[in-house]
Amino acid sequence: MSVTEIFQTMDWGPAPEAAAPATEWLDAHGRKFGLFIGGEWREPQEGRFFETLNPANAKPLAQIAQAGAADIDRAVEAATKALKEWQAIGGHARARYLYALARQVQKNSRFLAVLETLDNGKPIRETRDIDVPLVARHFYYHAGWAQLMEAELPGYRPVGVCGQIIPWNFPLLMLAWKIAPALATGNTVILKPAEFTSLTALAFAEICERIGLPPGVVNVVTGDGETGKLIVGHPGIHKIAFTGSTEVGRMIRTKTAGSGKKLSLELGGKSPFLIFDDADLDSAVEGLVDAIWFNQGQVCCAGSRLLVQESVAERVIAKTKARMEKLRVGDPLDKAIDIGAIVAPVQLQRISTLVEQGRQEGAEVFQPSWACPKEGWFYPPTLLTHVEPASTVSQIEIFGPVLVAMTFRTPSEAVELANNTVYGLAASVWTENVNLAHEIAARVKAGTVWINCTNQFDAASGFGGYRESGFGREGGKEGLYEYVIAPGGGGSLKDERRMTRDPERENTPAREAPHTPTPQNLSTLAPNAQFPGVANTPIPQHPNTPPLDRTHKLYIGGKQVRPDGGLSLQVGEQEVGRGNRKDVRNAVEVAIAAQKGWAAATPSLRTQILYYLAENLEAAMAPMLGALGGADLASGAPAIDADREFGAAIGVVFTFAAKADKFDGLVHPAPFKGVVYTQNEPIGVVGIVCGDGAPLAGLIAPICAAIAMGNAVVVIPSEANPLPAVELYRVLDTSDVPGGVVDIVTGRHDEIVPTLAAHDGIDAIWCFDPKLGAEVERLSVGNLKQTWVAGEIDWLRDPVARPDLLLRHATQVKNVWTPIGE
Ligand code: NAI
Repeated sequence: MSVTEIFQTMDWGPAPEAAAPATEWLDAHGRKFGLFIGGEWREPQEGRFFETLNPANAKPLAQIAQAGAADIDRAVEAATKALKEWQAIGGHARARYLYALARQVQKNSRFLAVLETLDNGKPIRETRDIDVPLVARHFYYHAGWAQLMEAELPGYRPVGVCGQIIPWNFPLLMLAWKIAPALATGNTVILKPAEFTSLTALAFAEICERIGLPPGVVNVVTGDGETGKLIVGHPGIHKIAFTGSTEVGRMIRTKTAGSGKKLSLELGGKSPFLIFDDADLDSAVEGLVDAIWFNQGQVCCAGSRLLVQESVAERVIAKTKARMEKLRVGDPLDKAIDIGAIVAPVQLQRISTLVEQGRQEGAEVFQPSWACPKEGWFYPPTLLTHVEPASTVSQIEIFGPVLVAMTFRTPSEAVELANNTVYGLAASVWTENVNLAHEIAARVKAGTVWINCTNQFDAASGFGGYRESGFGREGGKEGLYEYVIAPGGGGSLKDERRMTRDPERENTPAREAPHTPTPQNLSTLAPNAQFPGVANTPIPQHPNTPPLDRTHKLYIGGKQVRPDGGLSLQVGEQEVGRGNRKDVRNAVEVAIAAQKGWAAATPSLRTQILYYLAENLEAAMAPMLGALGGADLASGAPAIDADREFGAAIGVVFTFAAKADKFDGLVHPAPFKGVVYTQNEPIGVVGIVCGDGAPLAGLIAPICAAIAMGNAVVVIPSEANPLPAVELYRVLDTSDVPGGVVDIVTGRHDEIVPTLAAHDGIDAIWCFDPKLGAEVERLSVGNLKQTWVAGEIDWLRDPVARPDLLLRHATQVKNVWTPIGE
């Protein structure tokens, strides 16, 4: 093409990046790779290999080992063996290793970028400018946390051996997101890349070798979903970190239920991209291109649902179509390409099928006039208009370069539409009105919100989802908690069981009792002794009068209600309501209704309401202590130290009252011209299943932590001793806690806990009844609610010392990115 022709057409010429650094490396390895286990390269024991292909031309790149059960055993053995030394070397030494990894990633950045592009099909522009620099940044950032861990997370311990399973859309970046925090906090890892994209993980394993990382600290095992299953099911692994499809995330949740493994899931999304009528429309359309056509739309947080205000919809759609016409699809190694290849034929098929389904459901399909390359697997940028909010293409993650567009009229309607999916990973909000921007950011249910920008990522800012987009965060301080066990427990159930048997802990002397009366010294008071505020008039009693029958009810929607089945349970000399499934459902329904308003109350109002609750609780001390004394010890409930319980309970309410307006977010110093702030948002409705060990403090602490943060709770009190709970609702009745925010259903745990755990209206469930932990985890899979299963552990008796552990479980972190300047 001549210069004159170029000036006439203004077309881009080819600007290919040389494949040589990567192909030479592949050739040097004979285009065949083993497994990296215990610092050595090993053949898979079953001798099986599969091919990895270049999506841009469908040609084979290399043979990859398929790890089997014996290989995973060896990897677990190596990772377990490496743990002790890796922890013993301390934070500073680990920081040096992470720093060395970061340096090596930078030094090999061109090689890694080319290799990633060959294996995945994503444009070199992205691997070179986004993926690889972010990988280096992740290791640098976590080198810092390794250095600071002892000071910043005192008493926290590593989880142990971590199984990490990653997807194919950001192979090296997902590896960094998983490995860096795990290593920084003293864990060892077994990482499995996705079967389509193993090469950069293998190159990374070589980097680990090169820097002299102790053998077994990082193990890379390749293979498909079968290998993934072996990792998930292995009893020697203490934590599973998974990124991938919601479907597999569900399977992993089910499989790990009751195993004691810690779990974090980063799953799918259907993220809204909201354009308001006052937005800078050209910038917004440019943002949209990045939101949905970055990485061929194979991005969990892709802005795949365009929600545009009706008054500007036509203009935005016209501008988007014009921009689509100019996008370039082609050889990913070409530096002037916008959209590369789709990772595999199966993914291409899935995209085509879903677009076809959209067409059949009435969508209008727009694609640019030009054709994609015939060699390799390509799909053109696609826009679907005239779609319904409930249609398949509006609800299902397509994971390809396909945008669906809908309109809205008012901000509230925009929020309704934005939240109208099961997901909650990210959102992008475009408006020049700062008030509106932050209001929408607060109301959209998503782990990350970008204001007037999109697809911003940084190691300092935790990434992860709400709802069925998974739980746990990667990056930021919030991400570290996924790889540590809190002092006194808070980690896996298995671990906590071990801790409860710790003889040192068992010999810990009880704290000095606070100066409050006990049932014993109360009983030594003369009958009718003067209590402040209680009339001292003797009540005439006939010797043969039967005692008044006192059957406690349930507490739902701020009212005492009879159990639906009309049944009760005998507890000591009293009876409590025996709730059933219907009662649980009613309680969840009213809790959902109450939560919205409660979350909208200011934190300072919640603080005041909690202090007032403490005041009322203290006034109700006598019946509470009586209730504690009425523990049904015959049922096996541990003996209760009433003094300690009651003193702790008041302290607990004060602590969470104090925290309600202090458990605040952060401003992350991301390399971004603007502000990245985090908010600790309520999760929604939290189900709480109490254990028997601390019937009062163990009841009050989780309730107060959850409601302090703006959640509503459905509580199932201790089965052996529910009496403090029935006294508590009398206190709640006189407090200012709005009806429905705390709902209490007493009854047999085996009858009602499963309904609570399976209920889709519950957003998180905390189970402190060790008998039911496994079942709660298993039943949570329907809406992938967050679960926290913990045994009877010290922290529950001492939440005043460590309130943040409860508060972290009571909140989810939202990161909001706001640019500053023109
Ligand atoms: P996938 O969820 O099957 O694969 C992700 C990883 O999990 C891979 O390493 C895979 O080998 C492993 N895996 C598969 N089955 C497993 C099992 N039963 N136990 C343990 N590990 C298992 O995702 P896939 O099939 O590659 O893509 C299918 C769809 O999933 C995509 O079309 C997209 O919608 C979604 N997806 C979402 C991702 C995200 O980041 N949110 C990433 C990848 C896929």
